Amino acid sequence: MGEKWVWMKTAQTPTNIAVIKYWGKRDESLILPINDSISVTLDPAHLCTTTTVAVSPAFQQDRMWLNGKEISLSGGRYQNCLREIRRRATEVEDKEKGIKIEKKDWEKLRLHIASYNNFPTAAGLASSAAGFACLVFALAKLMNVKEDESQLSAIARQGSGSACRSLFGGFVKWIMGKEEDGSDSLAVQLVDEKHWDDLFIVIAVVSSRQKETSSTSGMRESVETSLLLQHRAKEVVPKRTLQMEETIKNRDFASFAQLTCADSNQFHAVCLDTCPPIFYMNDTSHRLISYVEKWNRSEGSPQVAYTFDAGPNAVLIARNRKAAAQLLQRLLFYFPPKSDIDLDSYVIGDKSILEDAG
Ligand code: ADP
Ligand code: DP6
Ligand code: CO
Repeated sequence: MGEKWVWMKTAQTPTNIAVIKYWGKRDESLILPINDSISVTLDPAHLCTTTTVAVSPAFQQDRMWLNGKEISLSGGRYQNCLREIRRRATEVEDKEKGIKIEKKDWEKLRLHIASYNNFPTAAGLASSAAGFACLVFALAKLMNVKEDESQLSAIARQGSGSACRSLFGGFVKWIMGKEEDGSDSLAVQLVDEKHWDDLFIVIAVVSSRQKETSSTSGMRESVETSLLLQHRAKEVVPKRTLQMEETIKNRDFASFAQLTCADSNQFHAVCLDTCPPIFYMNDTSHRLISYVEKWNRSEGSPQVAYTFDAGPNAVLIARNRKAAAQLLQRLLFYFPPKSDIDLDSYVIGDKSILEDAG
C-alpha cells in the first residue's frame, strides 16, 4: 500500500419516528430495551443524515466531525460501532485506483468521518437514529462488510437504540430480544414504504433548540424512578405492539391513530412520573394535541394522528393527501410559522441509500 490514497463512501439515511415508543434499557452498554417498539421511516429526501467515511494510510487517528464541528469518538457508543464493523471488515480492491486493502489492514487503518443532519440535532426528531444508522451503514460499505440489514441494525443499536430501526424503510419493528449478549435484539421490516403510501407525515418544528435532558439520561431516570414505566413495559406495550402490527397490516387508520396517540401520551406520562419529572413537550405541543383531538372528534373518524418523541416537536400523520392539505392549512392559520412553529411535510421513506464516492 502506498501512502497517497483515500478510499471513501458517502451514505444517506432517513430518520424514523416511533409510533410505539422505546423508553428504558435493561442493559446500558449493549443498549438492550425493556420493550419492543415500532416506527415509521421518513423520506430520506427530507429529514436525513449524510455521512462520508474515509480511510487512508495518511490518517493518524480516528476523527469525526458532526455538522462541521469536531466531536470526540472516545465514547463507548462510537467505539462499540467502530469495533463491531472493523471486526466484520473484508478485503477491498479497486484495480483502477491501485487500492488494495486486506482484511488484516483494517485494524491499523484510521478513519475520518464527516456527518451532517439536515434537521435539528438533539431536538426530539431522532437525530441519533439517523446519525448512528448512517454511520454504521457507511462504514459497512467502506469496509465491504457482508452482513444483511438486520445484522447491521444490531450494530447500529449499540450507537443509539432507535438507530436500529432506520436501516429499513416503511414500518419497522425493533424486537427487544431475550439473549444477554443482545444478538437477537434487532430490527425487522414489517411492511415496506409502498404498503401504506397514502399516509402523509407533517413535522411541525415547535423548537429546534437542543433538549435539556438527552433521551439516554431521560430514560435512565425513568427506569430508576417510574412505576408507570414498569407497568407500561410489562402490561401495555406487549399487547399494543400486536394491535399495532395488525392495524398496519390492514391499513386501518382509525385504530392506527388511536394507538399512536395513546402511546405518545403514555410515554410523556412516564416522563412526568419520573423523579424529578421530565417535560419534553411545551405549551405549543399541548395546544397542537388539543387541536388535533378536537378536529378528529368533529370529523367523526380520525384524520390525523400525533406523536411526540423526546422533545416538543410534533409528528403529525395524516390519513391521506386531502387530510394533509387540510391539516397544513389549519396549522398555518392557528399556528402561524413566523411566531412559534415551522412546517414541512414528508412522505414515508425508503431505506438508506448509498453513493459511491470511492
Ligand atoms: P435526538 O432526539 O435528536 O435523537 P438524542 O438525545 O437521542 O436526541 O441524541 C442526540 C445525540 O446523538 C447527539 O448529541 C450526538 O451525540 C448523536 N448524533 C446526532 N446526530 C448524529 C450523527 N449524524 N452522527 C453521529 N452521532 C449523532
Ligand atoms: C422517545 O434511541 O435516542 O425517541 O438508545 O439512549 O440513544 P439511546 O436513546 P434514543 O431514544 C429514543 C426515544 C424515543 C422513542 C423511540 O424512538 O422509540
Ligand atoms: Co435519539
